[in-house]
Amino acid sequence: MFQKDGPSFKELIEQALVSTQRGYDMIAPKFDKTPFRTPDEICLAIAKVIGPEKSIDRALDVCCGTGAAMIRLRALCKKEVVGLDFSDGMREEAARRVGAANGDAKVTFVKGDALAMPFDSEFDVATCVGAFGHIREEEEDAFITGIAKALKPGGRFVFATGMEPPVAHPAFWIAKGFNAAMRVRNALLKPEFIMYYLTFLWPDVKSKLEAAGFDVDARIGMLEKPFDRMIVVDARKK
Ligand SMILES: C[S@@+](CC[C@H](N)C(=O)[O-])C[C@H]1O[C@@H](n2cnc3c(N)ncnc32)[C@H](O)[C@@H]1O
Repeated sequence: MFQKDGPSFKELIEQALVSTQRGYDMIAPKFDKTPFRTPDEICLAIAKVIGPEKSIDRALDVCCGTGAAMIRLRALCKKEVVGLDFSDGMREEAARRVGAANGDAKVTFVKGDALAMPFDSEFDVATCVGAFGHIREEEEDAFITGIAKALKPGGRFVFATGMEPPVAHPAFWIAKGFNAAMRVRNALLKPEFIMYYLTFLWPDVKSKLEAAGFDVDARIGMLEKPFDRMIVVDARKK
């Protein structure tokens, strides 16, 4: 969970009272000490599905944050790994970490919005980890279309997601309660802070990916506890 030198409760509340972008700028130096940084086990499972070291030319990590996925992607790339994120603070943190990561592929960062994809047919692989909660449900089709645009024909969108917990499970009600509180916050306060739980879930996301022209494969049971409910999705652009 939260580590000793991570953000205080007050800092997290202050972050949630500004825009998503500004909130991440504020928390960036302490972000890796929070549970919001995607655990290495998940990034390693994604990397394993993508393939061996130097098996692809170029990869894009969307909403790269401090570089959790890019650190693993770099070794898989022969040429370049690119991180897209709208937070200056998060990209600065990522630059240090990914620059020191295993591999010799060029490391590039681009400031941009995941909903206004600035790339066209450039990547063999795109990933996105720990950030689907920042995409509103009504924006998911546009988000997927943007990923498809960034990929070369035959390129793959590889990510991990979960299934909705049973209604009887406390996690279901905690997430729904958090989402209700965020909707109230966003109705009352501008700019909005977009963060919702239980989004982009399997199997709902399968039909959205297929509608956008992907062939979809799912790897269930790859991860061990406590991530054993996570599914690694490997979606190939036709
Ligand atoms: C929870 S962090 C996850 C960071 C990293 N991928 C990880 O898993 O550790 C979410 C990141 O998404 C970025 N982000 C959120 N919405 C975005 C958008 N619409 N366009 C670009 N970046 C976005 C934030 O700035 C932040 O760095």
